[in-house]
Amino acid sequence: MNSLPDVEVSVYPYECDAFGHLNQAACLQLLERARWESLAAGPGADVFTRNGVWPAARHTGITYEASALPGDVLRVETETVKRGTTSFTLRQRATRIRDQVLIAEAELTFVCIDRIGRPVPVPDEVVRALGMPTGGREVRRVRVDGGDLAVEIRGTGPALVFVHGFPLDRSMWRHQMAGFGRWQRIALDLRGFGHSAGHGGGPAANLARHADDVAAVLDALGVRRAVLCGLSMGGYVLFEFWRRHADRVRALVFADTKAEADSAEGKRGRDELAAVAHHEGTAAVAERMLPRMLAAATAAAQPELVTAVREMAGRASVEGVVAALAAMRDRADSRELLAGIGVPTLVVGGAEDALTPPAVMRALTDGIAGAQFVAVPAAGHVAPLEQPLAVNRVLSDFLEGLPAHD
Ligand code: MLT
Repeated sequence: MNSLPDVEVSVYPYECDAFGHLNQAACLQLLERARWESLAAGPGADVFTRNGVWPAARHTGITYEASALPGDVLRVETETVKRGTTSFTLRQRATRIRDQVLIAEAELTFVCIDRIGRPVPVPDEVVRALGMPTGGREVRRVRVDGGDLAVEIRGTGPALVFVHGFPLDRSMWRHQMAGFGRWQRIALDLRGFGHSAGHGGGPAANLARHADDVAAVLDALGVRRAVLCGLSMGGYVLFEFWRRHADRVRALVFADTKAEADSAEGKRGRDELAAVAHHEGTAAVAERMLPRMLAAATAAAQPELVTAVREMAGRASVEGVVAALAAMRDRADSRELLAGIGVPTLVVGGAEDALTPPAVMRALTDGIAGAQFVAVPAAGHVAPLEQPLAVNRVLSDFLEGLPAHD
């Protein structure tokens, strides 16, 4: 695999033992110094912290091949040799420049952890910076009637489609896209959100149009049937998809969503938010929603997720947000659909979701024969982003239990 830039480091006298040789512990430190210098010379030494993760060393194996002396200058090459979902392994070789003698070779495995020590998938930027394969990641533009959608595709296998919530974009599924290696993962930005264009110039995007866009994406990728996973507004899109394209649904995953339509008060709230979008912009919409979007613990322990939500909202267009608010305000009650849903269904959401609380998700589950509900602890309304490992485990168990692909 590709590597970080080579760096040259000097052996200092204080790193040497009584015989004047670079000592073992100092050699490890020297390799660590070289890694950070390499990162600084490449993607930046803050590539981990700006992605909200830290590389925790889990295993080090080192072979000391020859002695180095004070004043020797070593070239350290760093190569990525293995990549897991949450871990990666680097190999470092330190060679004395003057005579090309190999001094030491080490292999180190790191696990990416978040601020509270939980393993998390290796962020995309780190994957790229370390030259690791991105798992066949591809972002395609798919032209649909009156729109141009950004669609991220990873891996091969049966199709697993992710539809984001409001006012977010496909990056909210980053941890799900990084896992599920036996599936073709497909995440789109709905029109007017993320990097997708198209909302005006014709009838405003409504949920049916979004559902047809999802079907058009499947057509463009040559996918006949898929497991569809939608969060909140993405769940409303799934109901529309079921109304219009039920034969293309292999299974459904509803995350942090509900079947009922807006109450009168809810409809008024949509109009107020639309006015906020018009007058103050889309980031202001996220600002109004944030206090109820993430669990309190998430906002405190993972501040980068607050930033991520703000950034996603900032990428949405005013027209896209206003159209989505109108679409959600006017959406049909989907409770009458539930009894007719005849595919395996999972409902999963944050135990602390303030927007679609567990009781609401339980009611959705109860309406669908054989559906199962899992409440994920310490997560709010964006559970897949807040508690990725827990959500991925639940989703993985569900996918494993599906009847063989037809
Ligand atoms: C979402 O996350 O998509 C929204 O909270 C949905 C809604 O406001 O009904």
